[in-house]
This record gives sequence, C-alpha cells and structure tokens, in this order.
Amino acid sequence: MILMKDIVREGDPVLRTRAEELTFPLTPEDRQLADDMLQYLINSQNPEIAEKYNLRGGIGLAANQVNSLKRMFALHLEDEKGELISFVAVNPRIVSHSVEQTYLTSGEGCLSVDRAIPGYVPRYARITAKFHTVDGEEKKMRLNGLSAIAFQHELDHLNGVMFFDRINDKEPFAEIENATPYER
Ligand code: NI
Repeated sequence: MILMKDIVREGDPVLRTRAEELTFPLTPEDRQLADDMLQYLINSQNPEIAEKYNLRGGIGLAANQVNSLKRMFALHLEDEKGELISFVAVNPRIVSHSVEQTYLTSGEGCLSVDRAIPGYVPRYARITAKFHTVDGEEKKMRLNGLSAIAFQHELDHLNGVMFFDRINDKEPFAEIENATPYER
C-alpha cells in the first residue's frame, strides 16, 4: 500500500527525470506498482481510509512520484458528467489536441508539492490520447475538462515537468490566450 511517506516531494531529482518506456508483458513488479498507484487514489478519496492512513486526496499519480522511472500513471476522478474516469496509462501520449486552452481557476496541486502555488496552468481543453493498459491493450481516448487537465499534469511528470513550470512567473494570473476557464 502506498502511503504519503512513499511519495517523493519536490526537490527530488526523480521528479525532474524523464521516465522510460515500458515493454510488454509488464513484469509482476510493474503490474503491482500500477495497481498500487491506482489504489492510492481510490483510498485517498475514501474519507475513512484517507483519515486512517493520513492520505492526501489526489486524482492522479505518476510513477516518478513513487520513485520509479517507468512511463505510467494512474488517474481516478469523476468528470463533469458524473462519469468515473479510472485507469492506469502505460506509455501514454497525446496524439492530437484542441487549439483552445483551459486552466483550473483554483490552480493545480500535486501530491509531490506540499505548498500552495498560485497561478493559472495552461492546458489543452481537449486531447486525444493513446496509451496501453497494463495488459498491453492499446487504448485511444478523447478527454476534455478535468480529465484532460489531469492527463496532461501526469504526462508532464513522466517528462520531468512540474505544473508550476507552466505558470507565468511574472504574472501568475495573467489571462491565458484562447482559453475557457475550468471551475472545479
Ligand atoms: Ni502532480
């Protein structure tokens, strides 16, 4: 079971390193890691379990954040239509995206960042993503709104990018070009 002590915090070089592609079949250890990452998110959104184990709530977790340089991340969230988006993406990529951008009006947070960092983080409003499941099945998915934002945040982790890298440091709340704000 992944606990907060297992989550790497900002400043650690593993968060600034590009994670490596996985080959199939995954090793039992990598499958276990995938399960554990998704389970962390599920647990962290369950008030009783989160309180018992002191888990900070999260909707996404990338392997770098648990000190593993493997190209995979987990997402677990309910989208604006109330639909559950829950999967582990292996070797994920964005194959196309909208010109239109979006950003969370409340800014982004990260389980690896223990401070609030104010500012708008520009993201594509809509993406078409491809990835493999842990079983090696190829998936193509269209995402928008919160799930698109979360996907881009986690993909950034696999490339050693942190959300605050994308904040305009001179003017964190400067208007984002061609963007529709996303209110969470
Ligand atoms: Ni993060």
